[in-house]
Formats: sequence, C-alpha cells, structure tokens
Amino acid sequence: MNVKPFTIALDGPAAAGKGTIARALSEHFSMPHLDTGLLYRAVGYKVSQGKNPLQAAIDLTEGDFANPSQLRTRIAGEHASQVAAMPEVRAQLLEFQRNFARRNGGAILDGRDIGTVICPDAEVKLFVTADDRTRAQRRFDELWPNDPTLTYDAVFADLQKRDARDASRDDAPMAQADDALLLDTTKLAIDAAVAAAVRFVQEKRT
Ligand code: DC
Repeated sequence: MNVKPFTIALDGPAAAGKGTIARALSEHFSMPHLDTGLLYRAVGYKVSQGKNPLQAAIDLTEGDFANPSQLRTRIAGEHASQVAAMPEVRAQLLEFQRNFARRNGGAILDGRDIGTVICPDAEVKLFVTADDRTRAQRRFDELWPNDPTLTYDAVFADLQKRDARDASRDDAPMAQADDALLLDTTKLAIDAAVAAAVRFVQEKRT
C-alpha cells in the first residue's frame, strides 16, 4: 500500500460526472474521497436557516455533511454557490481540505478549485467536463424522481447560472489547472470515463 500522501484532484462544472468518477477511483484505489461541494452545501444550508456565513463555516463539523441527501437538492446547490463566492468562507474551509488531501495513503477530492488553489501540488489533476445540455439532462434525471414538478428547462437555467457564478467569482474561480488532464464525458459512458481516469492515475502512480 502507498503510505505517502498522494492527492487526486478532480475539478469541473456541476453534473459533469466528477463525483461519480471520484467515488469509483476511491473504491478502485482504496483511498478516501472528499466531495468538497458538500462543505459549501452544508454552509449554504445553515445560512438559509439564518446563520452568519463565516460562523457557519467556523462551526462546520463532519457530522454536518455526513448525511448528504438533504444537501443534494437544487435549492441547496444554489445556496452553496452563493456562499462559495465569499472569500472568508473559502478561507475558513481551506485547512480542512488541505489536511484531508495530504493524509498518508492518499486522498481524492472533487470540487472547483482543488487543482488550482487547494492542492496545486496534487500528483494527479483531472478537469471533468461535458456539454451544457448533457449535464442538465443528467442532473434532471437525478433530481426528478424526488421532485416530479421539476422541468428540464429549470434545471438547465440553474446550471447555467451556477456555472457562471462559480467561474467568474474573484476568489478561487472554477478553472482547469494548466497541468490537469481534460476529460470530456459528453459522449462517454460512465464505465469508459472511469476507465480513462483509472488509467491516468495508474500512469502517475508508477
Ligand atoms: O459540486 P457541487 O455541485 O456539490 O458544489 C456546490 C457548489 O459549491 C458549487 O456551485 C460551487 C461550490 N464549490 C466551490 O466553490 N468549490 C469547491 N471546491 C466545491 C464546490
């Protein structure tokens, strides 16, 4: 087993497939995975209940995102994107993410700024993307069973708005690191996307 730190950074826009790929890599390589979007979703959720954003980030514990189904809703995603644009919130969440990333045995983190800001020295960087309509369809298929009033157009509009905010904020905007491999999953079945990611990690491990 690899006992040294070995960080795998996966970034990309909403619903591109990075979470699915990160979970598959976590299983394949037996490395812990942190979905960093959940940190912002948990802070956003507390803020939507009246808490101050910085205080919500300071008080955040692992228990707040251990049970993520209530955080994976459409509205929680919007709240997350709003608090994620606040530099004081991002600064407060930085150390937890870096500590997770550098644990012995390796770790996988997915988000928007992992390869650029949180772990610029990550051993593996992937930027996972897909075209806008494909991503909106995937997110719609995921959310619709729990919310049959939802329309594809509403999901598409949400994603466009959220991506624009995430990519244009001043602090740690969503971006592909110069040394990240671009993985476009528009025309890739999930198995093929995972296989490509596994191959890339294996090359970097040897
Ligand atoms: O990956 P997600 O959809 O769960 O992320 C929710 C929001 O959190 C997303 O709109 C942007 C923000 N986010 C971020 O700014 N930085 C990260 N590393 C992860 C998520």
